Amino acid sequence: MKKTGWLQASLALCLAACVGGDAGTGGAPEETPGAPAGSVTLAATPPMGFNTWNRFACDVSEELVRGIADAMVASGMRDAGYEYVVIDDCWQVERGTDDLIMPDPERFPSGMKALADYVHDRGLKFGVYTDAGPQTCQGRPGSYGFEEIDAVTYAEWGVDYVKVDWCHADSLNAPERYARFREAFDASGRDMVLSICEWGRNLPWEWAAESGQLWRTTADISDDWESVKWILEANNRHHAAAGPGHWNDPDMLEVGNGGMALEEYRAHFSLWAMMAAPLMAGNDLREMSDEIRAILTNAEVIAVDQDPLGVQGKVVLDRGYGFQVWAKPLADGAVAVALLNQREAEMEGSFSWHEIGLDPGPATVRDLWRHEDSGVHVDDGTIASRFRRPVPGHGIVMLRVTPIVEGEG
Ligand code: GLA
Repeated sequence: MKKTGWLQASLALCLAACVGGDAGTGGAPEETPGAPAGSVTLAATPPMGFNTWNRFACDVSEELVRGIADAMVASGMRDAGYEYVVIDDCWQVERGTDDLIMPDPERFPSGMKALADYVHDRGLKFGVYTDAGPQTCQGRPGSYGFEEIDAVTYAEWGVDYVKVDWCHADSLNAPERYARFREAFDASGRDMVLSICEWGRNLPWEWAAESGQLWRTTADISDDWESVKWILEANNRHHAAAGPGHWNDPDMLEVGNGGMALEEYRAHFSLWAMMAAPLMAGNDLREMSDEIRAILTNAEVIAVDQDPLGVQGKVVLDRGYGFQVWAKPLADGAVAVALLNQREAEMEGSFSWHEIGLDPGPATVRDLWRHEDSGVHVDDGTIASRFRRPVPGHGIVMLRVTPIVEGEG
């Protein structure tokens, strides 16, 4: 069986961009072939980790961060690929007379260097948050005019990831401000992922890859199904901008925060993986249920997110009544497929090989939530031979379709 259009283009793209990529490394730096020794592609696959904001907002402390780092190891999340532990807003209180940014001495009494060491000692990486404007969204000191000194401070602490917000910054030039962070990070001599967070206000999909490894495409997520639905719609529009080292960021995960049903969380997580989105858990990892842990550590779904081809999956069929088919070509020639039912009642979904970028013929199908092979299905190009599956309300069926190439198997 040969591959058609979109899939073929994606594979050609991979030859150029994903050599040396390694699924499941959670965005770890990769040696870039042909580049000078020591240079790396940061976030060759979408970054994976944890961020404090969605669950804890301003209630951050070194005790919390240490507990999360321990839980990331004990829960199996580190082994599943989660890597960055990121403190969002509210860790900073003021700038000293020497212009150095100061962490809250009551909440972080041991200091950031000691906390970064604690995180690193567990085989994880450490991230912080700042703002491109003079203040953060919660009114803490931002980095405007202090980008270089902050970059040096972060590097001294051992920071690996910096999320840079855009509150109090709308009068500024976004490409210029974020480029200044990139230059400051590079000058610091430490590899730091730059997570751009201007919510899609300045069309980051057009310029952000020059300075950042990921950029938000939307306003903030909230822990409900409506929010997931509109973010999908918005983020899907920019699929062409994503690739190894530069990702659209549809915001952090809400999985496990209590506002959605398990089926909805499964769909949220699956679609983030289909979109090659950064997977930043936003729940309390210290006390999650087995069901939530099973969602966040589903290795087959994570492998789709982390696939080295680095293509952002997209909607390939939208029936207009709440049923969509999403497809994401993978490096080994298979295609990840998600059938999304946005309505409340179960419905049967179907798709053809043609709709997911494959030619008619035999293919094996694996269910990535049931962890089951469904055997060989032959789509001969007729309506009767479309692949069919019941899809739960507000739910998903996620599959890996692998064409059986003529002459093989
Ligand atoms: C903005 C960002 C959020 C979070 C908060 C913190 O709203 O988009 O992700 O960082 O600020 O104040």
